[in-house]
Amino acid sequence: MKTQVGIIGAGPAGLLLGRILQSQGIDAVVLERRSRDYVLKRIRAGVLEQGTVDTLREYGVAERLDREGLPHTDMKLFWGGRRHSIPMIDENGRRLTTYGQNKIVEDLVLQREADGLPLVFDAEVEAIEGLPDKPVIHYTRNGEKHALQCDFVAGCDGFLGVSRKHIPDADAHSYEKVFPFSWFGLLAEAKTSTETRGFCHSERGLAVSSSRGPDVSRLYLQVPPDFDMATMTDDQIWDELSLRLANQYGKTLNRGPIVDKAVVRLRGFICEKMVHGRLALAGDACHTVPPSGAKGLNLAVGDVRLLAEAIHALLVENDDRKLGRYTELALQRIWPTVHWSCTMSEAFHIFPGQTEFDTRRQYEVLNFWAYDAVGQQVFRNSMLGRPYPQY
Ligand code: APR
Repeated sequence: MKTQVGIIGAGPAGLLLGRILQSQGIDAVVLERRSRDYVLKRIRAGVLEQGTVDTLREYGVAERLDREGLPHTDMKLFWGGRRHSIPMIDENGRRLTTYGQNKIVEDLVLQREADGLPLVFDAEVEAIEGLPDKPVIHYTRNGEKHALQCDFVAGCDGFLGVSRKHIPDADAHSYEKVFPFSWFGLLAEAKTSTETRGFCHSERGLAVSSSRGPDVSRLYLQVPPDFDMATMTDDQIWDELSLRLANQYGKTLNRGPIVDKAVVRLRGFICEKMVHGRLALAGDACHTVPPSGAKGLNLAVGDVRLLAEAIHALLVENDDRKLGRYTELALQRIWPTVHWSCTMSEAFHIFPGQTEFDTRRQYEVLNFWAYDAVGQQVFRNSMLGRPYPQY
């Protein structure tokens, strides 16, 4: 098989890149190791920056998002027995929108299938040969070996993917911080009351409550790094969430069946070498953020916009200057965003050995964001997201 661009990974990065390349008349094949069913059901992020919403609209895949996306005009922070609401809409009307990542993936999958474009599920990419200039992707599907000749390969295969391994000395250009805790992520059929929605600093550990639709709640608990989900019944989960999010504020959490559970270790990671010849990384393949800032998906969109331009210049205009600047420009948005996600993690979580002194210093950070005019702007602009760098 042969194509212009081989895209490894059918997450938001890979699928959106495919959609943008399609608009540029560039052929691509998306290869995804998981089944279609698994990919469509995978619950992940769900808070979209204005730039992400605008991008999905620009490429004609925002019809359901415009119908079902929930406007997010303030964020509620709780700490020390008090609740604070921080306006989250700026002077240009920029705001956040809540819309499940699984819906974005489904919208992009259905669009690609409706357009009859190649999207191969159950395709495990094992190696990329012929780099730097003549890449061939080798993958196995239903026990059969396949080779896909490409003019270019986009590694959109996430943190655990195979692409980064094909960037020479990627480790020497990588920076990582692994936090001493994990997030226990929950999806529940329970209405999110505005009284208990938000980010909560609790001496028992962070808790987050957000809405994914009129009767769907997305909730998180800070848990130890090696937490075993089987050790908590659903009632115990709701009790713990109530202890952190509601009881001390005299509120009641709406309960309901918990339909999805996952534990994710919090880490910040950046690989500063994103290109090797005709291979480039985008999204979680080259950076991972702790979910505290809800930035992973939004960062991937920025990468993909830049990468699509660089690929178009290279393949259509035979000009590799944008590809030469892709990493530098992408990092202008990646580092500040990873920094912000880590800053949110450091302000809200209880660290091993934390003292009351440490807790009161965290309160000062939260006071700055909630009460200080400059602090409110820092918080709001960081949450609303960095502008996309331009070539
Ligand atoms: N072969 C084929 N597909 C692969 C391989 C492989 N060897 N390795 C990984 N994949 C697929 C995964 O199954 C996954 O569907 O690549 C995809 C990567 O998708 P994500 O992990 O979602 O990464 P990305 O598209 O960059 O999304 C970035 O969105 O997933 C959310 O918040 C999350 O920060 C993340 C953001």
